[in-house]
Amino acid sequence: MSDHEVSALLERAAELDQVDPLGAYRNEFVIEDAFVYLDGNSLGRLPKRTIERMRTVVEDEWAHELVLGWDHWLNLGLEIGDRLAPLIGASLGEVVVCDQTSVNLYKVANAGLTHSGRTDIITDRGNFPSDRYVLEAVATAAGGTLIFAPEDPSPQVIESLMTDSVGVVSLSHVGYRSGRMLDAPAITDVAHTGGALMLWDLAHSAGAVPVFLNEWGADLAVGCTYKYLNAGPGAPGFLFVRESLIGVIEQPITGWYAHADQFAMADQFVPKAGIGRFVVGTPSIVSMVGADEGINLTAEVGMASLRRKSLALTDIFIESLDQLAPPDTELVTPRNHDARGSQVTVRHTEAYRISLALRREGVIPDFRAPDLVRFGFTPLYTTFTEAAMAATRLNHIVRTGSYAEFDTQRHGVT
Ligand SMILES: Cc1ncc(COP(=O)(O)O)c(C=O)c1O
Repeated sequence: MSDHEVSALLERAAELDQVDPLGAYRNEFVIEDAFVYLDGNSLGRLPKRTIERMRTVVEDEWAHELVLGWDHWLNLGLEIGDRLAPLIGASLGEVVVCDQTSVNLYKVANAGLTHSGRTDIITDRGNFPSDRYVLEAVATAAGGTLIFAPEDPSPQVIESLMTDSVGVVSLSHVGYRSGRMLDAPAITDVAHTGGALMLWDLAHSAGAVPVFLNEWGADLAVGCTYKYLNAGPGAPGFLFVRESLIGVIEQPITGWYAHADQFAMADQFVPKAGIGRFVVGTPSIVSMVGADEGINLTAEVGMASLRRKSLALTDIFIESLDQLAPPDTELVTPRNHDARGSQVTVRHTEAYRISLALRREGVIPDFRAPDLVRFGFTPLYTTFTEAAMAATRLNHIVRTGSYAEFDTQRHGVT
């Protein structure tokens, strides 16, 4: 591609930025670096409002209220869960923000499998490590097996694996490796037809793509807030339990936060009536308010406009790659909108060193072994110019072979 063509690409991106209805939201974030930051699918950027809110929690509330602060902190996870619910197609009282995604997955998978009276779980080979490990532990403890579908399965593949022993089907709605979005309504139907509960991991969906848990008929779900919801490093995850199951299933970690009368300090565990029965212990309030601000900002914009911009961003990135045609690269993420999350994954045998070369050139993607570079597009703050620049720099690095200056030995966070 000639310099002229590259300039034309960047000009087109700049024009799209000019008319971007969400363009002003970039100012909601602290962006003092010059990075083309495409790793919001790992850790979102910092919203300015979060700094103020965290300062209030620390300097006003903790400093002056001390333990009395718990009077208004105690149910924050439930209140924020209600604010998150509309963003994932759930009803009030069905979502709570608490613990980490991995812990929440354990709780709801275990509760669901026990309730089903069956022993096996289906997931896919490409699912996130925590999901594979936790689900395997849950199935094994029930005397059953974790059955693996190939990565990013279709409803037909799940159907072919269903047996009378399968009590839970658990998949990531958007695959963390491929960025592929699964056919959630059809897969949920298949699970139900086979007599199993459907558990969705929304880590790469919440704040990234529209999610309609109740419309799909989903039973259980978990997800994170520190990716597309920009809640901050290590911010709590969330969990969803369909209303009619809340009082019926029993979560396995019976901490005091789940007790019907928490401060009675009773001898016997009696679970709360609502979704609060799925909370375990004392949350980090500083992180919790990060989740609140990130969720409120996302709710202000709404998932429909975020999805429009997300698709436009990934479209321009994919079109740029098509034009530039960096050699020996393969587009892993689907081209069709119906099957695309808010991430584009590119395969190359030198993916690791390419990701390091990109970082040196000011583009931050991430690397997933053995051969994937992931580019996450958070529509709240990513510009079209950044999407086009990332494609041109990737092309330049691959064509010049400049990645060869880096060591092949992997170290640190990738
Ligand atoms: C799809 C998916 N599930 C689960 C997790 C685990 O989240 P946590 O480390 O917060 O438990 C992640 C983390 O990146 C993820 O991407």
